[in-house]
Amino acid sequence: MRWKMGSGQKQLINQQQTSCTEQTTMAKIYPPNSVRRRLKAKFEDKMREELRLSSSVSYVGNKRVPFLRIYRYKEAFAFSFVKDFLNRFDADFNDYVFDPFSGLGTTMFASMLSGIPSIGIDKLPVAYFISKTLPLFLFLRENEVKETWESIKPRIEKSEPAEVATDVPIMQVAFSEQNLLLLRKLKSAIDELPEPCRDIFLFLFFSILEECSFTSKDGQFLRLKRNKRVSNPIEAMSKKVSQVEEDVRRIRFLYPGISIDKVMPDVYLADARDLSNIKFRRKPTIIITSPPYANRYDYTRTYSLELCFHFVKNFEELKAIRFGILRSHIESKIKKDEKPPHPAVEEVVAALSRKKLNNPKIPDMITAYFIDMQQVIKEWYKVLASGAKVAMVVDNVRFEGEMIPVDLILSEMAEEIGFEVKEIIIARYKGNSSQQMKKYGRVPVRESIVVWER
Ligand SMILES: C[S@@+](CC[C@H](N)C(=O)[O-])C[C@H]1O[C@@H](n2cnc3c(N)ncnc32)[C@H](O)[C@@H]1O
Repeated sequence: MRWKMGSGQKQLINQQQTSCTEQTTMAKIYPPNSVRRRLKAKFEDKMREELRLSSSVSYVGNKRVPFLRIYRYKEAFAFSFVKDFLNRFDADFNDYVFDPFSGLGTTMFASMLSGIPSIGIDKLPVAYFISKTLPLFLFLRENEVKETWESIKPRIEKSEPAEVATDVPIMQVAFSEQNLLLLRKLKSAIDELPEPCRDIFLFLFFSILEECSFTSKDGQFLRLKRNKRVSNPIEAMSKKVSQVEEDVRRIRFLYPGISIDKVMPDVYLADARDLSNIKFRRKPTIIITSPPYANRYDYTRTYSLELCFHFVKNFEELKAIRFGILRSHIESKIKKDEKPPHPAVEEVVAALSRKKLNNPKIPDMITAYFIDMQQVIKEWYKVLASGAKVAMVVDNVRFEGEMIPVDLILSEMAEEIGFEVKEIIIARYKGNSSQQMKKYGRVPVRESIVVWER
């Protein structure tokens, strides 16, 4: 595989600007003689800005992409991001692309449309389901979804309401009584469909839950917004069905005559920290991924409505999933003998222990996050083909004024495991929370793409 760099010359100007910005902020963010300063100096020449990537590292870039626009998986990156990196890595049919944190399945979907075989895993049942179902939309014929929807509609009212995990607190307040009953009946009507129609309609059903509820997927979890205008489930489904029909036509136009049967992705419900049971067809040659960020977001809360409608029977089962995913959220548990796995993590944890934190569990979460990510990278080293390329989007984080250069720490860990760090591309700078800004000043926080080679 040949290695294509980004448009280097143009970035020179950017690079000089970065150095200025970063130098002025460096003094503010890392104490003299700190491990983090050493890391920054070590990787300085591998770092460069490519701020045109800023919209493609987020879901916003998918707003007009057929099928990817249907279900708002807000932690997803954009289709264009995956296409861009497949191109940079010169990928073709002989490659095998792997996403160990597949989410919506953007990596596999884009690989498929590029004629490249792929495999993905996710530990969150709803993400596994979504990324497994998304490729099925490419096989739909025109009007198929519309006709099925017309056949379901008259049956909804007469259906028995489906069982849902009503003991989960958010389920008791998320919906009006009327919408909850209608959604449960609609769910039962969908459950009776034959495969693959059932999965396609379940996908659409999950995609309307947010708008039919008093909740909103923003911030660290699912926020309750009692004054929100909510949609009627039948109208919301009808809108989704129309969007799908539009996308069936658009995809034919954008990819005429595409043959996708040979590149159906393999998708597993599995843990990226242990790849020993994954049935890879062969050694993956490319990883394009983004792990959960160390930012306290809890996927089992953000996606709790979907989980409660289909994947868990009760609160106990939901909590079991919460404690089974990567430890990037505040309820993450840490074992007594677990210690920070890198000196920079140790430094941050020590600095935080001297401060008054708004949540005392933050240092444990940070330690657990890096232990888990180190394990993930070790697994990649085991399964990847020699020479394989990795592009991973990561967000740096800042707690109580302590900046954590996640991109640099993970890169040094990867190096210790055996990878070569090729580039650290800064895609965008984010601000800080208003609380942090007031107390510690405004410091840009990087969202980067780390590029490694095995
Ligand atoms: C940032 S999202 C990935 C989004 C994806 N790139 C996309 O375009 O949709 C991170 C994903 O990691 C998943 N995840 C969390 N813990 C995991 C684990 N231990 N193993 C595999 N996946 C995990 C989450 O469920 C989430 O879907």
